Amino acid sequence: MSRIAYVNGRYVPHREAVVHIEDRGYQFADGVYEVFAVHGGKLIGEQGHLDRLGHSLGELRIDWPLGRRALMVCVEEVRRRNHVRDGLIYLQVTRGVAPRDHAFPAEADSALVITAKSMKPMDKEALCKGVEVLTIPDIRWQRCDIKSVALLPNILGKQQAKDAGAFEAWQVDADGMVTEGTSTNAWIVTQDGELVTRDISTSILNGITRLAILEAAAEAQVNVSERAFSVDEALSAREAFISSSTSHVKAVTRINGQSVGNGHAGELTTRVLDLYVDYIEGHGGPQVTDSWN
Ligand code: PDD
Repeated sequence: MSRIAYVNGRYVPHREAVVHIEDRGYQFADGVYEVFAVHGGKLIGEQGHLDRLGHSLGELRIDWPLGRRALMVCVEEVRRRNHVRDGLIYLQVTRGVAPRDHAFPAEADSALVITAKSMKPMDKEALCKGVEVLTIPDIRWQRCDIKSVALLPNILGKQQAKDAGAFEAWQVDADGMVTEGTSTNAWIVTQDGELVTRDISTSILNGITRLAILEAAAEAQVNVSERAFSVDEALSAREAFISSSTSHVKAVTRINGQSVGNGHAGELTTRVLDLYVDYIEGHGGPQVTDSWN
């Protein structure tokens, strides 16, 4: 089955999907993106992704390529044409095509690309198997709240983790506090049973999975604290996990070669995974509201 991509108003075979060499995304990384999880044919956290896309576009003064409702029609159409029941949708908006000049072009329509990919359905057992993370210095810019396509530090960090046989790298700020993974948010469970993830600021991306977990945990009256935690606190934690639209809730059982807790997925991690699955199965459906343009 051939994959279909959406490129600036056209649905085209994936292998023929191309953008202009002077697209500012290509030349300057002048663009933003979103990754939506698809679970059982439904898009997860649609509203949250669109709100975050609006934040990223607004901060960079890039125009919406389409209204929200029209955008979601295209997203759903790409999902449908690619027969994705479980997997992800990648959406990228750049400032568009213009002769190379650092300053914004006077006139350029923002460019939109959407692709879809099928993946194996979420497998709780695999998510609980446990992965290793490595801690590395956070060398990113000061606006990590913007989901920019400029991902060089993240790519280098992920490769460093991979080279060390780890799954993810947790980036650490100048104060020795963990910010987040290269493509995931970071969580620990303290020895007192408190679930901790970094509070929202320009130092991290406010993950849609993170938000879903916080909401599901609050509903289930789990004791959660949104605050920074140090590498030492993580090393002495009872449990740890990462979250993202692609990793869902994935247990972390080793940090820098050292076991976390008893070296197995923790009780609260497993519970949070169950709560997250219930949450997305209950709340994750299309949420196109009338207020959208
Ligand atoms: N990454 N932090 C960073 C730096 C990320 O890149 C991501 C997502 C997250 C988690 O966000 P969410 O829960 O909305 O997926 C946190 C995506 C999946 C990616 O770059 O592929």
